[in-house]
Amino acid sequence: TVTPDFLRALPKCELHLHLEGTLEPELKLELAQRNGVDIGQSTVEEVRATYQFDSLASFLAVYYPAMNVLVEEQDFYDLAMAYFRRAQQDGVVRVEAFFDPQAHTSRGVPIEKVILGYSRAARDAAELGIDAELILCFLRDFPADDALRTLTAALPYKEHFIGVGLDSDERDNPPSKFAEAFKLARAENLKLTMHCDIDQVGAIEHIRQVIEDIGVDRIDHGTNIVENPALVDVVRERGLGLTCCPISNSFVTDDSKAGDIVSLLRSGVKVMLNSDDPAYFGGYVAENYIALSKSTDLTREEFVQLARNSFDASWASEEQKSRYV
Ligand code: ADE
Ligand code: ZN
Repeated sequence: TVTPDFLRALPKCELHLHLEGTLEPELKLELAQRNGVDIGQSTVEEVRATYQFDSLASFLAVYYPAMNVLVEEQDFYDLAMAYFRRAQQDGVVRVEAFFDPQAHTSRGVPIEKVILGYSRAARDAAELGIDAELILCFLRDFPADDALRTLTAALPYKEHFIGVGLDSDERDNPPSKFAEAFKLARAENLKLTMHCDIDQVGAIEHIRQVIEDIGVDRIDHGTNIVENPALVDVVRERGLGLTCCPISNSFVTDDSKAGDIVSLLRSGVKVMLNSDDPAYFGGYVAENYIALSKSTDLTREEFVQLARNSFDASWASEEQKSRYV
């Protein structure tokens, strides 16, 4: 049988985690006070009462304003460190974490405070037995040249991140809009990934673009690919990872997509489970494994395969991978 304890203890990588999405109400209030920022709520209950979303857009409308409490390098450090401590309890041995520099630079926070705060925490995560790496994400609802400027501003700090991603509101913001920024990132030897969110308008065309036109190394979400068997064959043959987030899915749509995740796993696609924005969706990575065990007939061996996929789809070096198993 598959028990919660087994799933929690299973060594795993977290490959789809937004650091800003780990901002718990308690820390949000503490940082608001520390920085003298009025967020409009003063208790944990009041903060939680604002967490009502039924779509990607309604989630993002709560998510971005909360980031106003992140101002100093230490704030970014504290946020990331709190997450790494939490991840340790879920059997996480490696994290490749997203962060959104434009959500901060657009408010006047210098990019170096963001990168250096997160990076210092990522280094200290080693003391918790976690290898932590960063993925710089562009906001797709911002102009393409803003992404290019952000990447250019971040390149002096390139040693602090291993790849670039694309997140935020997908509607009318296809992958192709960011071809130039991703081409530059590739030329800089960075890894590439992009969100293809659940049930978006043009989902299949977006998945096609990330695979064929952008040439990503991984796809975030992307489970709509089940609608197109030819594309499923391509991701299977290339061994491209799909970073699935069942609990998040059930918030931004009314379906965890557990059935699609299971069918992709059983057809040999490198899917694995992740938490996306756990402070908002209420489940860190082990809870995502547990949720899937409750809603599907996946076996113990199949959960082990999901965890193995998280290592296979990670951007760890071969030397690192040999240490994890
Ligand atoms: N930013 C944080 N979480 C996201 C998600 N699930 N999709 C797009 N952008 C995001
Ligand atoms: Zn995400």
